[in-house]
Amino acid sequence: MQEAAKRFGTPLYVYDAAELDAALGRVHSAFGDARVYYAMKANPNLHLLRRLLAAGVGFECVSSGEMARAEHVGATGEHIIVNGPAKSAEEYRAGARLGATFVVDREEEVDLLPPGSRALVRVNPALAVSTHDHLATGAAQSKFGVSLAQVPGVLGALRAAGHTALGLHVHIGSAIRDADDFTAAFGRLRELREVTGPLQVLDAGGGWGLDADLSGIAREAHATAAHFGAQLWVEPGRYLVARAGTLLTQVVGTKHTGRDFVLVDAGMTELLRPMLYGAEHPVQALWEASAQGVWDVAGPACESGDLLARAVPLPTPTPGALLAIGEAGAYGAAMSSPYLTRSRPAEVLWTGQEWQLLRRRETPQDVWAAELTAAETPSAGC
Ligand code: LLP
Repeated sequence: MQEAAKRFGTPLYVYDAAELDAALGRVHSAFGDARVYYAMKANPNLHLLRRLLAAGVGFECVSSGEMARAEHVGATGEHIIVNGPAKSAEEYRAGARLGATFVVDREEEVDLLPPGSRALVRVNPALAVSTHDHLATGAAQSKFGVSLAQVPGVLGALRAAGHTALGLHVHIGSAIRDADDFTAAFGRLRELREVTGPLQVLDAGGGWGLDADLSGIAREAHATAAHFGAQLWVEPGRYLVARAGTLLTQVVGTKHTGRDFVLVDAGMTELLRPMLYGAEHPVQALWEASAQGVWDVAGPACESGDLLARAVPLPTPTPGALLAIGEAGAYGAAMSSPYLTRSRPAEVLWTGQEWQLLRRRETPQDVWAAELTAAETPSAGC
């Protein structure tokens, strides 16, 4: 870590190839022959995508940009699922050109799909889920999926319109701690068997908490697929990449205002999850000191909510020391922003032998590259 910080600077996203491979191995051993579509929103770095595609993994995409990434690394239609509650005309066109499978999120979409599409119907199982409100998608009033009662009608409408209705899709949210939530959701789906008849595919989504009982979830998912005579598909995002990634940040100084702050060179622009969802990421001091304290880890942004962690025990910090924020491989770089014209950090991979630079640090010029120069901007004139 010290060497990576020295070579590539901070803040820095550091990925560990062995942990990536281990996470995929855990998914394969729990889910067996299920087809895995990585939800690339978690971390769309092209190098990681190539690595996963080479291991036989496909991609769940929610934008034409994500489809472009999938295509760029060589994925073809059978490896691509196109999802999203508000797909654009461009996204339907791109999905059709690639021969991807679409996930239908509302009844009206049947008429919007390109002719002869292959489609899954996303079911909203109308359940409360053990995660932050912003991350729960299976509640009846969320914007996702069609109701259980609508399912037969939507499957029928797909067939009547000449599409291939492959089966059902369910994704109840992200960072779900309690495996019982999946059991409940899959149970609701199984009740539909009487009205749907057998299906080709059951897509059980992702959302598995990092400490969730994966084999329990897999058992329920397989039982549900078998109930429909269907092949099981899954869409993990966070589970595959979170633990493989660390955000490395450097101590700038300390401040005492009645609270004890350690000020670091990364913040909400590099890891938004603590601010947005109250997410708690493990924090590890890479320095030693005899005295310990309880510290809030604050970033450089001019916002009071710019905290990476609250009330964490740390040895007394010294400027220049390194702090490692764990579980940052998912939705870290992916949700980073150039707010404050901050250059997004570099991303590096430890292969076990060497450091590979996967993405160079942005420059300020990268951040404003799409803005037109004075010469290019048509004057308002009058
Ligand atoms: N499938 C669908 C249809 C999804 O919407 C998502 C995530 C996934 C799969 C993958 O879920 P995962 O296994 O990564 O939990 N920015 C938030 C997470 C938003 C997830 C959105 N959809 C976070 O930082 O926690």
